[in-house]
Amino acid sequence: MNVSEVIEKRKSIRKFKQGDILPEHLKLILKAAQLSPSASNMQPYHFIIVKDPEIKKQLGKFAAHQRFIADAAIIIVGLGDLEREKWYKVDLAIAFQQMILQATELGYGSIWIGAFDEKKIKTLLKIPDRFEVIALLPIGIADQDPPARPRKSQKELFSLNEYGIPLG
Ligand SMILES: Cc1cc2nc3c(=O)[nH]c(=O)nc-3n(C[C@H](O)[C@H](O)[C@H](O)COP(=O)(O)O)c2cc1C
Repeated sequence: MNVSEVIEKRKSIRKFKQGDILPEHLKLILKAAQLSPSASNMQPYHFIIVKDPEIKKQLGKFAAHQRFIADAAIIIVGLGDLEREKWYKVDLAIAFQQMILQATELGYGSIWIGAFDEKKIKTLLKIPDRFEVIALLPIGIADQDPPARPRKSQKELFSLNEYGIPLG
């Protein structure tokens, strides 16, 4: 798959089935985060890779009861470093999306999870105060192939040279 194909293939997966991520695949997925660009190369983040079934269940409960995430092989918990600089959310988002695209290319399903009780997750995973939980990223074997969700039109999304001039 080339990049365009991976981008087109990626969809949010909300149903996972049993099955692990191969160790060499996990290495590639984590490397995709490690190689991400970040403002001033500060890399103001940390990632907790949760494999433990009980902890995954707890995360499912704390993620607004989105219990399906516990069925993913892993849940990556993305932490932004508050002590670093103003770009930590952007930097983390880039790293997350790089992992998602790498996982998609390798045939895994994934989904961004932004609805959760941060305080409970911080206590559960013993996360130091200087970090903010930005998002969760379950990755695993997809058990669905959802249709593409609608998108805004090009007209709504893009302007040419100045705001409001249609791109053509
Ligand atoms: C920052 C962020 C947070 C999200 N949080 C959730 C979530 O908590 N639960 C969920 O089911 N989907 C969540 N999503 C997935 C979006 O609903 C999904 O990306 C969007 O509907 C487009 O669908 P697609 O990813 O299949 O293209 C989130 C996406 C992003 C980028």
